[in-house]
Amino acid sequence: MKLVVGNQKTYLNRQDVVNFINKTREGHCENVIICASFPYIDLYIEDSNYIIGAQNVSVKGNGASTGEISAEQLNSLGVSYSIVAHSERRSDNKETSEMFVDKINNLVKYDIRPIFCIGENLDQREANTTKDIVGRQIIEVFDKLNKEDLEKIVVAYEPVWAIGTGKVPTNDEIEDMTNYIKDLIQDKYGARVLVLYGGSVNEKNIDELNQIETVDGYLIGGASTKPDEFLYIMSKCEK
Ligand code: 13P
Repeated sequence: MKLVVGNQKTYLNRQDVVNFINKTREGHCENVIICASFPYIDLYIEDSNYIIGAQNVSVKGNGASTGEISAEQLNSLGVSYSIVAHSERRSDNKETSEMFVDKINNLVKYDIRPIFCIGENLDQREANTTKDIVGRQIIEVFDKLNKEDLEKIVVAYEPVWAIGTGKVPTNDEIEDMTNYIKDLIQDKYGARVLVLYGGSVNEKNIDELNQIETVDGYLIGGASTKPDEFLYIMSKCEK
């Protein structure tokens, strides 16, 4: 069984979410997390069997943070996972490793598992620095966390150039990267983590991707907003 994480970003309006819930009701949801936009988290919790995740969390606790959502607030809604360090937040919101440490600490304090995203951009890949970049993204954060929290983290390897482009690394490349990530975290911190692959996962490539044994699941953007396609991917990941 592979973990399936849908990151619905800001693709859907309220009616789209209602339709998505209704059309995917027959799906097997035990291993499926939907990271909904904040306004729809309650809808998913009330009316679906999905495990619910958030797409972001505040660096601070409860208090004077206008426009933010705290880990305690997410926990009070019933959220059990949250994405941290997505490449869109690294680039659009200039988020840093220091911020990811604070976010992860806030999440684990409220029993929410962080889905920590890492990945190289195209220039870095073409310069053959993928492992340096990904290694640094891990070390800058993992070095500052409490040892006992590390295995609560789910790592998502998402090459930036594969997000929303229809381009996907080869199975060998994904296997190599997931092994690299797992070995680094095991050797340096003595922790075993789940590693997801993300970037243009869809109904056409899911069978092939499923052949990679070192991948524990997927972080899925666009295809997680299309009910039929998402149901198909879920059905391929439930065993
Ligand atoms: P796509 O599946 O649309 O490429 O998005 C991947 C992603 O960013 C998930 O977090």
